[in-house]
Amino acid sequence: MSYLKIKEIFEKNIVDQDATIKGWVKSLRKNKAFSFVVLNDGTSQKDIQVVVDSSLPNYEEVIKCNTGSSLSLTGKLVESQGKVKSIEMQASEAVIYSQTDENYPIQKKKTSFEFLREVAHLRPRTNTFGAVTRVRHRLAMATHNFFDSKGYYYLNTPIVTGLDCEGAGEMFRVSTLHLNELPKDDKGNIDFERDYFGKETFLNVSGQLEAEAYAVGMGGVYTFGPTFRSENSNTPRHLAEFWMIEPEVAFAELEDVAKLADEYIKYMINEVFTHCPNELDFFNQRIEKGLIDRLEKVKNAPFQQVTYTEAIDILQKSGKNFEFKVEWGVDLQTEHERFLSEEHFKGPVVVTDYPRDIKAFYMKQNDDGKTVRAMDVLVPGVGEIIGGSQREDDLTKLQARMKEMGLSEKDYWWYLDLRKYGSVPHAGFGLGFERAVMYLTGMSNIRDVIPFPRTPKNAEF
Ligand code: 4AD
Ligand code: MG
Repeated sequence: MSYLKIKEIFEKNIVDQDATIKGWVKSLRKNKAFSFVVLNDGTSQKDIQVVVDSSLPNYEEVIKCNTGSSLSLTGKLVESQGKVKSIEMQASEAVIYSQTDENYPIQKKKTSFEFLREVAHLRPRTNTFGAVTRVRHRLAMATHNFFDSKGYYYLNTPIVTGLDCEGAGEMFRVSTLHLNELPKDDKGNIDFERDYFGKETFLNVSGQLEAEAYAVGMGGVYTFGPTFRSENSNTPRHLAEFWMIEPEVAFAELEDVAKLADEYIKYMINEVFTHCPNELDFFNQRIEKGLIDRLEKVKNAPFQQVTYTEAIDILQKSGKNFEFKVEWGVDLQTEHERFLSEEHFKGPVVVTDYPRDIKAFYMKQNDDGKTVRAMDVLVPGVGEIIGGSQREDDLTKLQARMKEMGLSEKDYWWYLDLRKYGSVPHAGFGLGFERAVMYLTGMSNIRDVIPFPRTPKNAEF
């Protein structure tokens, strides 16, 4: 049946008109002569208050509709009298879909984020998760619009793969072999030729390698898909299953994709300001005071840039007592990344030219023999939001690096072909979608910006 979404009522300021709305009860205040039902349908940060008169034939039933009950309400929309101008409904008809009892888990008092993770199937009904989900949606749309407007093609890369793109050995195995009856070869090793794909396969950690193949045939592409990492990181910034956007650009160098990253993040900020102002206000008041200011500042200045070597120098001279010691050659830890973006640069910063030994095999080697053309974008509150690089396009150098790292040319034959046939300078990066949602909402735990988080020892729902 047709009905009005609450979002539309507020956006179009629909008053003095009859309408039907449908949703879930946020709260109910009972009086003798009439009661107030506060309803939300997930489309709007604002709830709508409905005045239900005791003359309604099913009034006694309606006032048993506790928090979480589902209702269809028909009546006249009017400007409300309260302190802040708003719109309310004077109900003339109420249809009850379902009444919840006092066991409904989401009651006013029990709403810590930790608790809500245990009822992740019901948390979309809360203010915070409604807001997060609407912003997440907006950022997904913004992503497609941004790359489409630049002429990049949306590419779906495989989820099942035989290659460990990042070389970190953090892959989930995909297999149909029975764990109790593993087939063995002559040498007693597991015979993966008898597995479904005839070889060892895993869930991808990145779509980059395949994206490169399309970039060096089509100019520019981007992926937007799920990626999987079995790293045992129980932190507020790591998921085992997360979404990544990976643009890959031909005829481009590191500076070009650093600029692209800057434009992309600003584009997302602008889209959220334009389309989700009420959600932003909510996050600004309830989740991170100063969020709007922080994002506003980022809109207006280009990202700052330093080399890894300069960043190490800054960290060493900071006088800070870091848990992880800072010296040239170590990977930056979250505490270092946050110091750089939050305290030193006070905004997003692009760190480039990392030591080759802490980065993946595919990155373009610098002439100094020590560093590669890598970049990480670090932002306040989150740390690393983007990792990217210019790719090694010289076949001989790539082969030499792979040999050093013990990677077999046989496995990467097609990737090496890209350097044999029509090789061009190219570069790209990966943005962790959930980290972007954290950055734009001020939410501090990554488990609260994805609908159903997968983390070590947790795959409920
Ligand atoms: O830095 P990463 O590992 O880079 C790559 O995967 C490259 N292949 C990307 C490319 O050049 N096309 O991951 C990219 C981003 C990180 O900056 C981070 O935002 C996010 O992915 N990320 C995670 N997000 C949530 N949970 C995890 N376990 C993540 N690991 C990486
Ligand atoms: Mg990285």
